[in-house]
Amino acid sequence: MVPWLNDAVFYEIYPQSFYDTNGDGIGDIPGITAKLDYVRSLGCNALWLNPCFDSPFKDAGYDVRDYKQVAARYGTNEDLKALFAAAHERGMRVLLDLVPGHTSEEHAWFKASARPAPNEWSGRYIWTDNCFGGGDGMPFIGGEAERNGTYILNFFKCQPALNYGYGERRQPWQQPIDSADALATRDAVWDVMKYWLDAGCDGFRVDMADSLVKNDTPDKAYTCTVWKDLTARLKAYKPEAVMVSEWNRPTQSLKAGFDMDFMLEWQGNGYSWLLRNYDGATDSEPKNIGKAYFCKDSTTDITKFLDDWLPSYEATKADGLYCLITGNHDTVRVAAGLDESERRLAFATLFTLPGAPFLYYGDEIGMRYQKLPTKEGGYFRTGSRTPMQWDQGANLGFSTAAAEKLYLPVDPAPDAPTVAAQDGVPGSLLETVRRILTFRHAQPALGACAPFQVLYAAKNQRAFAWQRGDADTGVLVCAVNPGTEPCAVPLAGRKVMAPLFVLGETPSWQGGALTLPGQTFAAFGA
Ligand code: NOJ
Ligand code: CA
Repeated sequence: MVPWLNDAVFYEIYPQSFYDTNGDGIGDIPGITAKLDYVRSLGCNALWLNPCFDSPFKDAGYDVRDYKQVAARYGTNEDLKALFAAAHERGMRVLLDLVPGHTSEEHAWFKASARPAPNEWSGRYIWTDNCFGGGDGMPFIGGEAERNGTYILNFFKCQPALNYGYGERRQPWQQPIDSADALATRDAVWDVMKYWLDAGCDGFRVDMADSLVKNDTPDKAYTCTVWKDLTARLKAYKPEAVMVSEWNRPTQSLKAGFDMDFMLEWQGNGYSWLLRNYDGATDSEPKNIGKAYFCKDSTTDITKFLDDWLPSYEATKADGLYCLITGNHDTVRVAAGLDESERRLAFATLFTLPGAPFLYYGDEIGMRYQKLPTKEGGYFRTGSRTPMQWDQGANLGFSTAAAEKLYLPVDPAPDAPTVAAQDGVPGSLLETVRRILTFRHAQPALGACAPFQVLYAAKNQRAFAWQRGDADTGVLVCAVNPGTEPCAVPLAGRKVMAPLFVLGETPSWQGGALTLPGQTFAAFGA
């Protein structure tokens, strides 16, 4: 484990919407640099930036046109290097977003690949061998290129799949993963990684990391082979650099060399029962509102989450971190599913479970999901990507541009939450997040890799209790009751412990059982 990860808390920034320093209505890299002290003040010591590279922005920058060039709207490569330096001065790290599975259809590699005359890039994307050919089960596009073939897509129409080869090969145009073309693709991605590592970045969040090899085995054995190669190159080159995968299968990703994987919202999985329960990750309309574990009046117990998360955590805890998020640029904001008091308990829980937590910008002040028309391929996700709300000034302090020139409108509500309104106000959500993260950093038992054990989780019961740490770190007991009624938590054989941290009313001990008042989180020395 890379040592700095044990104390890492990440903050995800959607660069378009964080802070605009030149008044053009769109967030920029100097804006992120300007707000580093704010991010640090939260207790976050690492950043993940969504893609900030040259792009036609048909998928908000996940359609990269030039991997080595910062998009003009965000600034210059020098601005990004200055951000790395400013972060490092503050003891912070910066992860860039690596999009290895596809490029923009406007990338020079793809344009060359689409030419009829064979060239160095002909085999860098996946082309069939005739202009009417189907994609063998994969989405494909025909009729757009002079080349006699159709090409495979990785996501939207604007995102042709780069060629890392095939596991099972059923067609003559499907290459093995060690073909010259597939290996050249790997080298090209490594070249991009090296470029930004040399510029000072601390690693990468990897987009659709599980998507590289097509017709892979169910356990993604071929894609894992590719990642073992690329993560080994990274570790040999810059041992302190880290990689976090968008994969949601730590038994695959962490074994393939990733330092971290995300637990993501996937139709009815354990995570979706924790915060939102939207019954699917593709729709802004909640179908089970009020039924997530952290909803006050829910009847859901923690086993819905644990049944999914715990086996993966146990199987991979020696390999890396399985990380929990408050949300991200692809999810509906957590504020849409949980009220503020519910979110306090959710954040306290997420930030004291193992792994490195990821806080999505604005969740710390309770930014709301906005119903908005789609922008740059966002669709329902657009509503979670609105400008950061700094103060009560014009455009809530995000930009000096005229309101109609903003990348997305700011929250129009008269009571839209802002940093300024909560900063220094005891009990505000912002100050609560700071308190939780201060506590986390002060307790070695809450380090990302410190041991974890369930103490109490029961069907049809609302309380959940767990232990962190060991003899080396010291031991903590954490307990949460998201319901409104007091809960007795049997913790047989434990002595009365001093609460070190409490949200809500102070819990009490009666006859060997901990009684947690409604809507309480507490951590005890043990
Ligand atoms: C996952 C990213 O998080 C999402 O925003 C993007 O649209 C797709 N991958 C395609 O790159
Ligand atoms: Ca700007």
